[in-house]
Amino acid sequence: MKVLGINGSPRIGGNTDILLDKVLEGARSRGAETEKVILNNLKFSPCQECENLRDDGSCIIEDDMQPLYKKIKDADGIILASPIFFGSLSAQTKMMIDRFQCAWRAKYVLKIDTFKKKKIGGFISVEGTTREDFFHNAKSIVKNLFATIGVGYKEELFCSGVDEKGSILKYPEVLKKAFELGERIALG
Ligand SMILES: Cc1cc2nc3c(=O)[nH]c(=O)nc-3n(C[C@H](O)[C@H](O)[C@H](O)COP(=O)(O)O)c2cc1C
Repeated sequence: MKVLGINGSPRIGGNTDILLDKVLEGARSRGAETEKVILNNLKFSPCQECENLRDDGSCIIEDDMQPLYKKIKDADGIILASPIFFGSLSAQTKMMIDRFQCAWRAKYVLKIDTFKKKKIGGFISVEGTTREDFFHNAKSIVKNLFATIGVGYKEELFCSGVDEKGSILKYPEVLKKAFELGERIALG
């Protein structure tokens, strides 16, 4: 079982990063192989809406999204992690999601399923305030992505009221839930 964690926060060692690490630790404790990608460290362009897919339905832009497409294709489990920024996903996360327009176009217009391997996934998020509706906004976008690339939306974990870097460490019960979420993902 390969579990890929994708972190959309620019703050390394921040709340999203800590929560994601706990999930991946839980997955490893159940024998999964894990990898974490930090979107802020990648160099990639936003979707250019070119509608020019390759014959196999993949995106033509040559940047750091290409290896990420491959990692996502190879994974059995995906954990997408993003802080809430202005009521929704971080820009880094949304920019990555928009780059799956190639998969959407391939699937629904050209009838080519570019992400054939079925997988399971989860979404984890943190926010400074306590606005449940912000998590709902973010979640609906993640569900849309998951449906496009054949990921079953199985798990979610949201933590409100964490603003300062690392303040999530004050909530051991949330970290425990993250670890258990990772265990469940690893067990399929
Ligand atoms: C650009 C920006 C926008 C934010 N917008 C919101 C928001 O709309 N609602 C909220 O509750 N918190 C908001 N926050 C606070 C972050 O969600 C919070 O600090 C979170 O813990 C950051 O996670 P991180 O440490 O993983 O980056 C915002 C923070 C930034 C930097």
